[in-house]
Formats: sequence, C-alpha cells, structure tokens
Amino acid sequence: MHTLTLRRPDDWHLHLRDGAMLKAVLPESARHFARAIIMPNLVPPVVTGDEARAYRDRILAALPPGATFEPLMTLYLTEATDPDDVAAAAASGLVRAVKLYPAGATTNSHAGVRDLDKVLPVLERMADIGLPLCVHGEVTDPSVDIFDREAVFIDTVLDPLRRRLPGLRVVMEHITTEEGVAYARTGGDTLGATITTHHLVINRNHILAGGIKPHYYCLPVAKREKHRLALRAAATSGEACFLLGTDSAPHVDALKEHACGCAGCFTATNTMPLLAHVFEEESALHHLEAFASRNGPAFYRLPVNETKLTLVKHEQPQSFPEKILTEAGPVTVFNPGFPVHWHVEA
Ligand code: DOR
Ligand code: ZN
Repeated sequence: MHTLTLRRPDDWHLHLRDGAMLKAVLPESARHFARAIIMPNLVPPVVTGDEARAYRDRILAALPPGATFEPLMTLYLTEATDPDDVAAAAASGLVRAVKLYPAGATTNSHAGVRDLDKVLPVLERMADIGLPLCVHGEVTDPSVDIFDREAVFIDTVLDPLRRRLPGLRVVMEHITTEEGVAYARTGGDTLGATITTHHLVINRNHILAGGIKPHYYCLPVAKREKHRLALRAAATSGEACFLLGTDSAPHVDALKEHACGCAGCFTATNTMPLLAHVFEEESALHHLEAFASRNGPAFYRLPVNETKLTLVKHEQPQSFPEKILTEAGPVTVFNPGFPVHWHVEA
C-alpha cells in the first residue's frame, strides 16, 4: 500500500451553480478541497460586489454541517462593469479575481465582453491593485475552427492585451494546447494557467471515436493527443505557473445527453484520485502538492493550507459514484475509462 500526504488542495476554477444543484455538488468539492475560485456564470451572472456577497452567503449556507470550505469569489466582467465596484469588492477581501468570458464562448457567456476597449478602465484598475483577471481563452469567430480557437486567442487577443497592460495579472483558464503551455511559461509572475483533470485524461478521440460521448464534451474542447501530453508534462512539472483548476461543471444528464448537449465535465468527486493516478504514471507524485496545493496560493497571494489530505493506493481498483443525484436529475461523474487504485483517506 502506497500513501501520499499533501497539504490540502484548492481548486482554482470551479462551477458550483446555485439552488438545488449547488446543494448537491458543493459537498463533493468541500470533501477534498479547502478553497475554490468560484465561477460567476450563473443565470443571471454574478456581476457586482453585492451579487458576489449574496452568492457567497448562499454557498456557505449550503455547506454540510461541520464542513470547512472557503469560496473565493469572482465577478463576471461585462461592458458595464464599474471599476470602483470591482476595487471595493477586492479591497474588502470578498472578491479574488474577475472573469473574462468573450461573449458567446461558452455556457452563459452571452453577457460577456464583445469589445475589450470597453472594459479597459476596469482592467487598468485591476492592474493597479493587483487583482487577477481569469480568462476564458477562446476566440468566438465562427470562421475559426473550434480546435484552433485557443491558439488564435493567444496570438490575437491575449498577447496584445498583456503588451498593452503589462502590469495586469492574468490566469489563462483551462488551457488545452501545447501553445497554451508554451505561452504560460513566458509570463513570469504575472501569468498563471489552470489545467483541468479531464484534459490530462482525454483527447478528442475519447469524445468522438466509436460513438459520441457527451460526458466528455467540455469547452475548450479536448484537443489531439500531442496537446494532452503537453498538458501532462506541464501539470506534473511542478512549475509555478501551472495550477489545478478542475473546471468541474455539473449539468444534469438530460442536458448532456441531448441533441445540443451542454459543455462541462463533472470531476469534483474523483479529481484527487485521478490526479494521483496521472502523476504516478508520469513518475511525478512528488510534484502533485505543487500543482494542487502550493502554486495556486502563491499566484493568488494567499497562505497555503495547513491541513492535510492523504491519498492511499490500494491493490484493488477503487469505486466512485457513477452519478450524483440532484433535485433536477442525475449528474454523471467523470469516468476516466480505466481503473483507478487511488482513494482519498477519510
Ligand atoms: O465545459 C465548460 N463548462 N466550459 C466552460 O467554459 C463553462 C462550463 C460550464 O459552466 O458549464
Ligand atoms: Zn469553467
């Protein structure tokens, strides 16, 4: 039996939703993670400091008794966002980042940004106060192939923006390409990149070969194998710019198994065992703590967690629930398609 004890991990990109779904999925994250950066793409989105405070209170109220979990709130950037409201929400410690969704890029992004010039005053203020901008890095131009949208975004949007505002601290969210990995490495301490669990496990064949697998569909969509390998090398390298951000994104099965299925993989339940599996395959278990527990707090200028989490590798494959039940219907837990022997010790 092999055991691995880490500082308790944090999730630097998480969708908790609201209402009954929040109640059902929050315990899955709170069981293993101490903190998470909470995505603001609710309907309607979390735009103002007051809305973020109310959402944080709903999250805290939905926690199971005795659970300790700190939601780190974000604001959804719109072309009407008020720089003073952002600065006040950051100064109070309520808000830890602002999320940029290019309008139309993903789930509930229609209120996002069409013209970056319109949000420049907000971004300038964020650069002044050191508040990170979390970026969904895909262009939305329908003429750009979906598999190229991240690389084109880096060249045509992100790099020009960072040259214009060199003080702006940016997190490239859920990178999926070798171009994303390479660019993240160039940014020094003003640039971080989150990597999801599922993008370390699947490539685009897993979605499309041998029948379409809606539970593997997410955005940015998984790319070809060379990109998955670049992501694995990055995540397991221990390099400070790569942070765990699961992008665990629950949708009920009825909306995933659909003629126009929603994007998102729900990995909150089994992320830590899957990461132990991946890091062991890469002979890098000694870097799992950097990826999951140290690099994030360093980027976000927060203390590391003092509590611990222990993973145990068993002889027998470990089981995990196939689905989480919610009042709106079941949510399928990400199935990696191979046996996992790691388990988080209770
Ligand atoms: O797969 C995804 N699901 N990607 C996103 O960017 C959004 C997320 C969601 O909210 O469902
Ligand atoms: Zn997301």
